Amino acid sequence: MDSLLIKGGVPLHGEVTISGAKNAVLPLMAATLLTAEPCVIRRVPDLSDVQFMAQILSSLGAKVTVKDDTVTVRAAKIKPFGDYDLIRKMRGSICILGPLLGRLRHARVSLPGGCVIGTRPIDLHLKGMEALGAKLTIENGYVDAATKRLVGSDIFLGGRAGPTVLGTANVMMAAVLAEGVTTIESAACEPEVVDLAFFLTEMGARISGAGSPTITITGVKELHGAEHSVIPDRIEAATFAIAAAVTNGDVTIHGARPDHMSAVLDKLKDSGVHIDRKGLTLHVRRNGSLKPVDVTTQPYAGFPTDVQAQMMVLMTVTPGLSIISERIFESRFMHVSELARLGAEISIEGPSAIVKGGRPLSGAPVMASDLRASAALVLAGLAAKGETQVNRIYHLDRGYERIDQKLRGLGARIQRVQEK
Ligand code: EPU
Repeated sequence: MDSLLIKGGVPLHGEVTISGAKNAVLPLMAATLLTAEPCVIRRVPDLSDVQFMAQILSSLGAKVTVKDDTVTVRAAKIKPFGDYDLIRKMRGSICILGPLLGRLRHARVSLPGGCVIGTRPIDLHLKGMEALGAKLTIENGYVDAATKRLVGSDIFLGGRAGPTVLGTANVMMAAVLAEGVTTIESAACEPEVVDLAFFLTEMGARISGAGSPTITITGVKELHGAEHSVIPDRIEAATFAIAAAVTNGDVTIHGARPDHMSAVLDKLKDSGVHIDRKGLTLHVRRNGSLKPVDVTTQPYAGFPTDVQAQMMVLMTVTPGLSIISERIFESRFMHVSELARLGAEISIEGPSAIVKGGRPLSGAPVMASDLRASAALVLAGLAAKGETQVNRIYHLDRGYERIDQKLRGLGARIQRVQEK
């Protein structure tokens, strides 16, 4: 397995361009199953999760071509079930359930199972499909959803931790081809949901309210092909902003959507990071010492759980005490024990991590456990004195396009070590 070797302590300087959003592109690719006509998606990041999704669509019968950052999908003839092992490997693949049910009135998808950040149930997805009239059976590791008629309904999608992002996407994608009107209450407001609603509308769907907690969908008979450009990855942009801050650097981030990042930018400013925003560009620099801030993760527009681990690294290098509370996923603190290897002082009390920041970090070999934990370890390695080896970086390649190359462009001393 590949690893990253980082020689830390170098302030990052220069310019970086943000890629298309992983969490937007996966549901967009799934949405292409809703029409027999070709769909073209641009600004697609080169990620292993995207390659997985392309393989899943192919296994369902779609013709998928990838050229540079453009993916074309023609789902002329598809079947309701794909390769079990492929689908099982990536949690994001659950978002093929809605489009298959919408288009074919039948979907058979392997249950995604839990992962290191929590149990990650799909009860809300299933509740939505049932409300639209699907009969569900769970057997042999599959969920099978089938119906003769899909009929619009009022669906409340709020769960224990608030709305569900992919659940909202799934119900929206099934409902666009249902008979009549569907209203989703407590819908996720994330920009990725809005991006999907745009694409579906470009395909001929009738959707209003995306970006608010109430989404209304009026079903249509069929959808047609469309072209769409993926929104910038707000989590990647936040990760680079924090990389500039933790290394005491000065970085200009192009092609971002600062309006999708308000909670993160606000916290960075509160901790003393200088941020200038101009259109799609963010200029981030640190000038002197930082102040500790408390952070609680929330559904959008609150502070994103996908930036919690990276923010923890910033608090680790900030003198003073800060409390970081994780309210979306129950066990998303896997990075804490690895950060401790670099000298971080963090204790966990229930859903909160108490960070005693300011102790100098020193490089060590660490193990990445999930995507954002991996990003946090890279940031910590960049801030630490000496050499850090981040192992198991396939997690990073799932969600960050060429992160090592982009960081090298900013002056980081980071090398990918390929296992022979
Ligand atoms: N939940 C339920 N029941 C459900 C679905 C979710 O109880 O049926 C709970 C979850 O257990 C969690 C909360 O609701 O406590 C929110 O989960 P959500 O469904 O919103 O997560 P998701 O849609 O599966 C997406 C992103 C995640 C991101 C979350 C939250 C994709 C492919 N994944 O997951 O991204 O953390 O929304 O914003 O879009 C990442 O990029 O590293 C990542 C994990």
